[in-house]
Amino acid sequence: MASSFHFLLLCSLLFLISSQCIAKTSFHPKALVLPITKDSSTLQYLTHINQRTPLVPIKLTLDLGGQFLWVDCEKGYVSSTFKPVQCNTSQCKLARSGACIEACYSAPKPGCNNNTCSLLPDNTVTHTSSDGELSQDVVSIQSTDGSNPGTKVSMPNLLFTCGSTSLLKGLTRGVKGMAGLGRTMISLPYQFSAAFRFHRKFAICLSSSTRSNGVMFFGDGPYVLLPNIDVSKSLIYTPLIKNPVSTASSYFKGEPSAEYFIKVRSIKINGKVVPLNTSLLAINKAGDGGTKISSVNPYTVLETSIYNAFVGAFIKGLAKIPRVASVAPFGACFSSKNIGSTRVGPAVPQIDLVLQSNSVYWRIFGANSMVQVSSDVLCLGFVDGGSNPTTSIVIGGHQLEDNLLQFDLATSRLGFSSSLLFRQTTCANFNFTSHS
Ligand SMILES: *[C@@H]1O[C@H](CO)[C@@H](O)[C@H](O)[C@H]1NC(C)=O
Ligand SMILES: *[C@@H]1O[C@H](CO)[C@@H](O)[C@H](O)[C@H]1NC(C)=O
Ligand SMILES: *[C@@H]1O[C@H](CO)[C@@H](O)[C@H](O)[C@H]1NC(C)=O
Ligand SMILES: *[C@@H]1O[C@H](CO)[C@@H](O)[C@H](O)[C@H]1NC(C)=O
Repeated sequence: MASSFHFLLLCSLLFLISSQCIAKTSFHPKALVLPITKDSSTLQYLTHINQRTPLVPIKLTLDLGGQFLWVDCEKGYVSSTFKPVQCNTSQCKLARSGACIEACYSAPKPGCNNNTCSLLPDNTVTHTSSDGELSQDVVSIQSTDGSNPGTKVSMPNLLFTCGSTSLLKGLTRGVKGMAGLGRTMISLPYQFSAAFRFHRKFAICLSSSTRSNGVMFFGDGPYVLLPNIDVSKSLIYTPLIKNPVSTASSYFKGEPSAEYFIKVRSIKINGKVVPLNTSLLAINKAGDGGTKISSVNPYTVLETSIYNAFVGAFIKGLAKIPRVASVAPFGACFSSKNIGSTRVGPAVPQIDLVLQSNSVYWRIFGANSMVQVSSDVLCLGFVDGGSNPTTSIVIGGHQLEDNLLQFDLATSRLGFSSSLLFRQTTCANFNFTSHS
């Protein structure tokens, strides 16, 4: 890449003055690490990166299937290293831009420049999008050996899109944009692995607590959680499926979806298949149907006919437990006094998402299926997505918590750990203290 070439060149000049430079250039991180927090009011997962010159911490809503990083450039964007990306450049092609912003009739500033590559930043929480300019600026991020954070590394020309202040509506207070980790050539995982030449893999591990940090790794394992458990060593794998039609709020014609889909073949509750219309589990020509994984949905969302069959089967499986009035947005709630507890949460029927074969399934235990809505009420933490949603099953945050998910972009497969509570650890157990 041109940027790393410049960096080397600059460094060889600097070498004449400072021997520290050698240490810096010869340091190639094998992986990077970021903390993930959960906001207790919006239930959004947040992270922050240091961007701009001088560097400032930017709080972002995590968007697993998001196309790229977008930030509000309208308000408070000050940086001496900001660069707009011009139309018809290699970066603009990499971003698959379908349009050029020829003129912006105001003084030039971040987000307003002439002849700039146009993209469509998407607020996937509110399903709103707008026009935005593709831009570049420096970011700084912590490297890791998999066990602790290490040296900070910087990437001079990270591509991102400028959004507007109004696009932030619906995001957590203080957030300045969304960190897109999706399947595009300019999402954060793709750019980091290209810039630092490490494996095209990343992993997320969402904490179930709003008081302790979860973790995200860019690059391959080890992914070590206290007490010294390398979770990357024991994952179950399933193919990631491509959806040829974009699922974004707005998009350029012919654009594929940036989201991560997997093939769920059936759902079992307590080992029994839930009767469903299986054609809803396939992605059709229009890009509708199928199963995706989302960090912006707090709970798994099911198409109405799947939801009704699923909730019915679950209630049958818990027949001995008294039901209580439902608490929105949930449809099945129970008195928790009558439900025992296990290492992996409330003792309720196991839910299996059966994947490529009967022997490969994603098993969901009580900690991930049930939501404690009050001291004596537990609800099944799945919601009704209506009868005509774009995607039939959207696996949401509550079902992902304390599970590590690794996305291998080179081989297009997902590795998942199932509940870490079985292994006596959690996603809040990464040691964020640096080696001294
Ligand atoms: C960009 O390329 C397209 C065709 O590839 C051409 O029509 C257009 O004039 C070019 N724009 C600029 C600003 O060079
Ligand atoms: C873009 O070009 C137009 C016409 O030349 C000019 O009036 C305007 O100020 C320019 N805008 C920016 C942001 O440079
Ligand atoms: C199953 O779902 C498909 C796709 O939505 C629909 O066309 C079909 O009518 C459904 N079949 C039944 C039996 O409901
Ligand atoms: C976390 O890492 C630091 C630095 O290596 C180490 O000193 C500390 O003992 C670790 N904490 C635990 C709980 O292992």
